[in-house]
Amino acid sequence: MHPLRDEIETIEQNGITKVAFTRMHDPEVIPLWFGEGDVVTPDFVRDAAKAALDDGQTFYAHTRGRPELRAALQVYLDGLYGLDIDPARITVPGSAMLGVTIAAQMALSNGDHGLIVSPVWPNIEAVFRVTGAELGHVRQRLTDNGWQLTAEEIIGAIRPDTKAIFVNSPCNPTGWVMDAESQAELLAACRERGVLLIADEVYHRTVFDGDHAPSFLEVARHDDPLVVVNGFSKAWAMTGWRVGWVVTPARHRLQWTALSECFNTGATVFAQLGAVAALQQGEDFVRQLQQQYRRGREIVDHALRDHPVIDYCSPAGAFYAFPKIADLSDSLAFVEDLLAEEDVGLAPGYTFGPGNESHFRLCFAQSHQRLEEGLQRLTRFVERHHGIGNLR
Ligand SMILES: Cc1ncc(COP(=O)(O)O)c(C=O)c1O
Repeated sequence: MHPLRDEIETIEQNGITKVAFTRMHDPEVIPLWFGEGDVVTPDFVRDAAKAALDDGQTFYAHTRGRPELRAALQVYLDGLYGLDIDPARITVPGSAMLGVTIAAQMALSNGDHGLIVSPVWPNIEAVFRVTGAELGHVRQRLTDNGWQLTAEEIIGAIRPDTKAIFVNSPCNPTGWVMDAESQAELLAACRERGVLLIADEVYHRTVFDGDHAPSFLEVARHDDPLVVVNGFSKAWAMTGWRVGWVVTPARHRLQWTALSECFNTGATVFAQLGAVAALQQGEDFVRQLQQQYRRGREIVDHALRDHPVIDYCSPAGAFYAFPKIADLSDSLAFVEDLLAEEDVGLAPGYTFGPGNESHFRLCFAQSHQRLEEGLQRLTRFVERHHGIGNLR
């Protein structure tokens, strides 16, 4: 007998930290494992947070977020999508991660079915698993035109007991971007069947065709069973700040208030005031990062596109490559051996859901010199271990 719920007792560490925690902050390592670059949050954001601290902003905030942040989010979303989102629909519970966690808790419990579009970032699976729900995956297909998945395929995987669907577009790790038509189709099916659609749009400003990805908000009615999760980590280089937001139907605002209270009692106050500055003054910086990621993708394209062993397709969004090596059967051994021999940190494919043992993930948000060096070491390693299936 043990006091923990089975789902918690058997929970696994994600494969990214499993590898990274062994050599985190080691200056010898080129870290392409986490979903972040090496650019520090810009001065004007840090200054706003410092000013808030100096101003004595150290008290509890409203659990749904500071009113000025929610108002700034309304203006930002209006500018981006031409929508007038009622701030009653916006909550700042803490990080985007927390937004996904609360959304999953709201919809799923023991005996329910939760459907996840995969390959998927491992923390999402953990979030779904701890609710006690049964997990299902509907997998994107790797085609000559990149990663693809239609709305019909997702709808076809919905069961009568499905209570929530998780979709991340642009996708970590594949870069797949769902088009507006498919989004509308999937949302209509969720509306009809009373399924909560959890749309994770944290990479909304990182697409390689245009300025931002299509958002479910653009095809939604205000009371659809939809939670759009977003955050400051990626577009404004604020991973350590732990601030994100959700847009939900207004009728769920009481539940968001109560659950935000339980989980974190709202986001850190001075971090929220930094986030206001990010929204109000951050457009040039967002564009600067977009340029950096564009060039990062070109560098990866150049290194991997015609590689004889590494099967790579250029991502449409986010800042990851998710290549495959046909005869690779142990992605963890592959990244561990690469780390030991070449001091390059990657994420093993297995951790991104079923069917990914031949893959690895590489984040190209780092500065270009380090990225180029990391890619050289990676290709050298792969070439040295030709017949890579026999690595161990
Ligand atoms: C798909 C996805 N969702 C959510 C998050 C979490 O974002 P945040 O740092 O804002 O919690 C990440 C971070 O890597 C992510 O890749």
